[in-house]
Amino acid sequence: MAKAKADDFVVTPWEVKGKIDYSKLIKQFGTEPLTPDLLNRMKKHTKELHFMLRRGLFFSHRDLTWLLNEYEKGNKFFLYTGRGPSGPMHIGHLIPFVFTKWLQDAFGAEVWVQFTDDEKFLFSKEENAKLETYTNYALDNALDVIAVGFDPKKTHFLIDSDPKSAGAMYREAVKFSRRLTASTAKAVFGFSDSDNVGRFFYTSMQAVPAFLPSILKGKNVPCLIPLGVDQDPHFRVARDILPKLGYPKPALLHGKLVAGLLEGGKMSASVPHSAIWLSDTEEQVREKIVKHAFSGGRSTLEEHRKLGGIPEVDASYQWLHAFFEPDDKKIQKIYNDYKSGKMLTSELKNYFTEKVVAFLKEHQKKRELAKKQLDKFMFKP
Ligand code: TYM
Repeated sequence: MAKAKADDFVVTPWEVKGKIDYSKLIKQFGTEPLTPDLLNRMKKHTKELHFMLRRGLFFSHRDLTWLLNEYEKGNKFFLYTGRGPSGPMHIGHLIPFVFTKWLQDAFGAEVWVQFTDDEKFLFSKEENAKLETYTNYALDNALDVIAVGFDPKKTHFLIDSDPKSAGAMYREAVKFSRRLTASTAKAVFGFSDSDNVGRFFYTSMQAVPAFLPSILKGKNVPCLIPLGVDQDPHFRVARDILPKLGYPKPALLHGKLVAGLLEGGKMSASVPHSAIWLSDTEEQVREKIVKHAFSGGRSTLEEHRKLGGIPEVDASYQWLHAFFEPDDKKIQKIYNDYKSGKMLTSELKNYFTEKVVAFLKEHQKKRELAKKQLDKFMFKP
């Protein structure tokens, strides 16, 4: 089971809590650390390494060695990732997509993106939840994903309940589900008898894009899934079952889950000011960061100059490091200056605010343009 001890941290596809110890998580989940050797091997093909790899934001994998062996034999892989459209997207949701887009360019790979409106409907805690609500969020979130810059000729969107997507996926999900027992679903996901039966079936849908391209191409194609590590349990199950259906196990590249703006929590729709939403206005961003973002600064100016700040707990620094400041020299200087007390919290927050505002302005412009492109990305059999 993906849960750690109660006083520790919890990482499951449905719940992320506490301060995650990623070395412990690698042991609990039974994944492999992303070693310098493997990174160097990737670099041979990509020339540069994305800063999320250089900085350890992507930190763990399953079967990446096998995937690179295949690639070096001339057997190209496709990429698969996804989004559970529970509402509008925040900046954390974008991390795997930005990284996947880089992988697409670096390896010239096809990308499959799944939007799981069925999942969000089945797992909604709302008594009268409507599937249509989540289908609409899927269509909305798809624009944010297009805005990341994927190549329309090489990128295919699946919306689970969309008739065309469902038409291609359902037969395969059924075959998968015949191999997935209720006791495995209970053991891996912690379900009980009071969970609806759709939840027990759901992993079968999330597994399908990992082998659908093999079916469409009429030959087995290696698959690489970049994802936040909370999604690993679905693919642990998929990796057990796919060889039984005649397909290779997908390789995985796991990303860390970056915390929200408030102390020790995640970005959450139910906690105001915890998240930067992709639709935020400049004013909202400024207010959130200046007034609410958790700071590693000291309580007085004098103390800060003397003792220095703590970048390791500072939300602004953490988000610059994970997403908004790709330049290694600049991020190192910010770290040094903040840690030594030379840089003040207000200066760090201003720097962060300007980066976020500039990013969102660009993103929102591209999102507008994406409205005309959506049809090009939708899967058509
Ligand atoms: P969802 O919508 O919860 O999240 C989408 C992707 O974003 C990652 N993520 C984060 N990464 C870094 N920091 C954060 N704070 C953060 N929050 C979320 C998630 O791990 C995920 O990769 N069931 C899935 C949808 C899905 C999927 C997939 C995801 C379907 N097929 C294949 C990955 C790969 C979901 O609800 O993701």
